[in-house]
Amino acid sequence: MSNIYDLIIKNGSCFISNKIEQVDIGINNDKISKVGLINKTQGGKVFEAKGLTIIPGAIDTQVHFREPGFPKKEDLESGSEAAVLGGITSVFEMPNTTPPTDNFDAFEDKLKRANNRMSCNYAFYFGATENNTKFLKDIVQLKGCCGVKMFVGSSTGTLLVKKDEAIEEVIRVSPKVVAIHSEDENLLQKKRDLIRKNDPKSHTDWRDSDVAMASTKKVVSYANKHRKRIHVLHVSSKEEIFFLKNNKDFTTVETTPQFLTMHSPDCYEKLGTLVQMNPPIRGKDHQEALWDAISQGVVDIIGSDHAPHTLEEKGKQYPESPSGMPGVQTLLPIMLNHVNNGKLSLDTLVNLVSIKPTKIFGIKNRGAIKEENFADLTVIDMHKQFLISNSWIASRCKWTPFNNYKVKGFPVGTVINGNVVSWESEIVLKKSGKPLIF
Ligand code: DOR
Repeated sequence: MSNIYDLIIKNGSCFISNKIEQVDIGINNDKISKVGLINKTQGGKVFEAKGLTIIPGAIDTQVHFREPGFPKKEDLESGSEAAVLGGITSVFEMPNTTPPTDNFDAFEDKLKRANNRMSCNYAFYFGATENNTKFLKDIVQLKGCCGVKMFVGSSTGTLLVKKDEAIEEVIRVSPKVVAIHSEDENLLQKKRDLIRKNDPKSHTDWRDSDVAMASTKKVVSYANKHRKRIHVLHVSSKEEIFFLKNNKDFTTVETTPQFLTMHSPDCYEKLGTLVQMNPPIRGKDHQEALWDAISQGVVDIIGSDHAPHTLEEKGKQYPESPSGMPGVQTLLPIMLNHVNNGKLSLDTLVNLVSIKPTKIFGIKNRGAIKEENFADLTVIDMHKQFLISNSWIASRCKWTPFNNYKVKGFPVGTVINGNVVSWESEIVLKKSGKPLIF
């Protein structure tokens, strides 16, 4: 009998319409052709997935891959390899590169650099500035553009929209979702004397929850006024969560695995500047509010905020040390461990990393295991135990804040655009990622 399918994934526990079903997946070229019972003689290749869970490919909607600018920290190639080894099939990459991605030439340059070099699928944010609002309407035409990124508080890089009128204008004119780094720049400048030299814990005093809250209230009010969609990145504080709970008409919410797993002061005592990030990891009460927000559906997306810096840079004395830590490779292992510990259901996790990112940003034909969709799948072994270590990290920076962290639940493989790309911590097909379509 001739082959009907290029690849059959046989006997997996597949996540379909919010339920686990024991079905087979037949793939032709880059698309899912059939979901149902398939005879294995009909496949060119058959991938036996008994005992494994197959979910629609996980998407990390916040990564910084540092190209162009800082190839010692990361580039599009190495960052995408880290992604697939962590079970991520698509990434949205941030514009605070050097030079920043805040004009059409820089955007096209990033797309060219990504072509035939990235191992996962990709899209890029267009960076907002105080001077480029008049061009923002034209980003609808850009292939591979997921949205606009606006820093309203300064962080790594030079991108910043500081004036209230400019912040409002970006939200008013953007034809796509505006993803916001939400810390109030005026308060950040005012509170600088709360920084204590050589004490990274004082990062939480300087960039406290008032700084985040003032900004989040402001951007939500602009979104409501203009009835335009915003996405608040890496929400870190209980105050923002209490506010956002009742203010989600035009706003969606992201939080990160590090906020859900580490807390102050312990993380700073153990890891110092390695866990310094903007906004900062806060106390246990904030972490608990974030978990409640997940169970109540207030959080829409988990993004890693993968922001690698070299160990040498991180070794500088606070506050000379840069903010940010890698995370694209550990997002799923950490979150699957939380599933096994009963902190959230697998159903909720799939919504946070696949279904909602697809819906919020309008990605075409992904985010569900169904016929005609692109065959992007993350293959999970919910029973596999794994010790996360620096030596496993594929990111150029070669370290993780989760070094020596034991997890149960592991993304053992990825299928991207119909091809098996990684299996058991090996990449079997490199550089076949494609730009996402919106
Ligand atoms: O800590 C951070 N580092 N937060 C950000 O928003 C940017 C990131 C980076 O690019 O290093």
